[in-house]
Amino acid sequence: MIIAQGAEAILKKEGNKIIKERISKKYRLSGLDNQLRSFRTRREAKILEKLSILNFPSPKLYSMCDKSMKIEMEFIPGKLLRSQLDNNPVLWGEHIGKLVGILHSKNIIHDDLTTANMIVNKKNLFLIDFGLSFFSLKEEDKAVDLHLLKNTLNARHSLVYKDCWNAIIKSYAKHFDKADIVLKRLEKVELRGRNKSK
Ligand SMILES: Nc1ncnc2c1ncn2[C@@H]1O[C@H](COP(=O)(O)OP(=O)(O)O)[C@@H](O)[C@H]1O
Ligand SMILES: [Mg+2]
Repeated sequence: MIIAQGAEAILKKEGNKIIKERISKKYRLSGLDNQLRSFRTRREAKILEKLSILNFPSPKLYSMCDKSMKIEMEFIPGKLLRSQLDNNPVLWGEHIGKLVGILHSKNIIHDDLTTANMIVNKKNLFLIDFGLSFFSLKEEDKAVDLHLLKNTLNARHSLVYKDCWNAIIKSYAKHFDKADIVLKRLEKVELRGRNKSK
C-alpha cells in the first residue's frame, strides 16, 4: 500500500515494513540523477544503521539496495508530530530538543528537521527521513540544522512557536555539551539570513 509520495520518493507499507524507493526526476540528467539517488539511498541507510547502534528512536534498517534505490525499514506506528505539536508544545519541544541534542552530540546533522519528519508513538517521539543527513563536526552545520527547525516551527506552528522553541533549546542544552557554542552560532546564522532577505 502506498502511504506517501513525496518529491523524492515513494513510500509503501508492507506489514510492519516500510519500503522507501527514490524515484527518478525527469528534469535531472539521468546519469546525475542515478548518482544522486543511489548516494542518498546509501547515506540514509548508513545513518539509520548508526542510529540503531546508538539505540536512537528511529526506524531500524532492514535492507538497502542502491541499484533499485530502495530502503526497507521498520514501520513506526503513530501520528506525525505536525498534527500533535500544538496540543502540547512544551512537552514535544522537550522531546525534540533531546533528540536533536543527541544527534548533534554524535555529529549527525539531520538537515530536514520538520514536524512531518517526526512521529509520535504513544508517549515517545521518533525521527524519520534521514535522506539528507550527514556527519559533521562543524558547529555551523548544527546551527543551520536548528535554524531550519526554528523556521518550520515558526511557519507551521506559529501560535505555539515561542513556548516550543524555548523548551527545545533548554532540553537541547541538557543533552549536548557544546550546545552553547552552537546556539551562539545560530545567532550569526539568523543575522545572515536577515541581511540576505533585505
Ligand atoms: N519508518 C516509517 N514509519 C512510519 N511512517 C513513515 C516511515 N517513513 C516514512 N513514513 C511516512 O512517509 C512520509 C514520507 O517519508 P519521508 O521519509 O519523510 O520521505 P520524503 O523524503 O518524501 O519526505 C513521512 O512523512 C511519514 O508519514
Ligand atoms: Mg519527509
